[in-house]
Amino acid sequence: MEVVLKSLSKHFTDRKGNVAKALNDLDVTIPSGKLIGLLGPSGCGKSTTLYLIAGLHKPTQGQIFFGDSDVTNVPPEKRGIGLVFQNYALYPHLTVRQNIMFPLENMKMPKDEAIKIAQEMADLVDIGKLMDRKPKELSGGQQQRVAIARALVKKPRVLLLDEPLSNLDARLRLQTREEIKKIQRETGITTIFVTHDQEEAMSISDEIILINAGVFQQMDHPQKVYDEPANLFVAKFLGNPAINIFHGQIKTGVLSVNGVELDKGFKGEDRNVVVGVRPEAFYLDNKGKIEINVEFVEHIGRDITVVGNVENQNDSKVRIIIPSDHYNDVFDKSRLGFTPKRMYIFEETGERIK
Ligand SMILES: Nc1ncnc2c1ncn2[C@@H]1O[C@H](COP(=O)(O)OP(=O)(O)O)[C@@H](O)[C@H]1O
Ligand SMILES: [Mg+2]
Repeated sequence: MEVVLKSLSKHFTDRKGNVAKALNDLDVTIPSGKLIGLLGPSGCGKSTTLYLIAGLHKPTQGQIFFGDSDVTNVPPEKRGIGLVFQNYALYPHLTVRQNIMFPLENMKMPKDEAIKIAQEMADLVDIGKLMDRKPKELSGGQQQRVAIARALVKKPRVLLLDEPLSNLDARLRLQTREEIKKIQRETGITTIFVTHDQEEAMSISDEIILINAGVFQQMDHPQKVYDEPANLFVAKFLGNPAINIFHGQIKTGVLSVNGVELDKGFKGEDRNVVVGVRPEAFYLDNKGKIEINVEFVEHIGRDITVVGNVENQNDSKVRIIIPSDHYNDVFDKSRLGFTPKRMYIFEETGERIK
């Protein structure tokens, strides 16, 4: 089921009349049958967007379509959505089977049919043998799968997951996210997966939507967003270690950092700009255009990370990742030269120029 959000806004007004603009003018088309990651920092409006799609919030402005039908004023229970929260929200006094069957019993489905469907869903999420247990007798990951089975049991047109892995430890998080991906592939249900974790979103999503402070930033395949960030916010938000940022100047069309020319052919007035270079986008170079004062070198597995700082660029550390066969070239050196292979240039406002 394709989900279309048209100029969607949600503003919360408190009793004193203060307005929180949680979401502003969001225009996106969420393709049918895909897993879409809704990504952004905490408080940027992700849950608000999800609850608007679910019908739990009423938009301040804009419309929501499921396929061709306008569902903006359709109540949540008639939208055909399945919703899973971070905290699972299982009924503690009910067994796994009763939890999963709950939505079906609510719609007065005959009991033996409900039991059969609940078992199918439980098998799908690999908890089919735990049907008689209570939630407290399950691990966090198993509880989350019960919540997913319960959300799937009414065969929703759209599955909405709000930070479903946040309460799991690192290993379970990895395993459960792979299972969510698998379940989504098997069922083909249009799924929106909310997370603030860029790596999680990148690994699981067919496409990601990035928002910041209630404002749309970019939507595309994860690798495309990483390789072609629309602006400085996106460039900084994706990638670990984060992109390296340098202050640059454009003078008569020539870009330089610390007086060293890096590129030319820029248009417009002389001005300060921001230069972004991903950690893996440098090569080691004796006559390198950027000189690093090395603080330490980490050698982990197949990579070396050089951590240091650059003269006159003292607001953040520089991290450069090179293959480990360079170890002898960087070991015990206090200064190293690097040249960017690929860089992104932004106006100081964050707008990308190149
Ligand atoms: N019910 C509400 N009343 C008032 N403000 C809210 C409400 N829900 C969310 N907000 C505000 O809207 C913004 C976005 O919140 P939210 O969508 O929960 O962010 P996220 O899920 O990305 O962390 C925040 O500033 C939050 O404080
Ligand atoms: Mg949230």
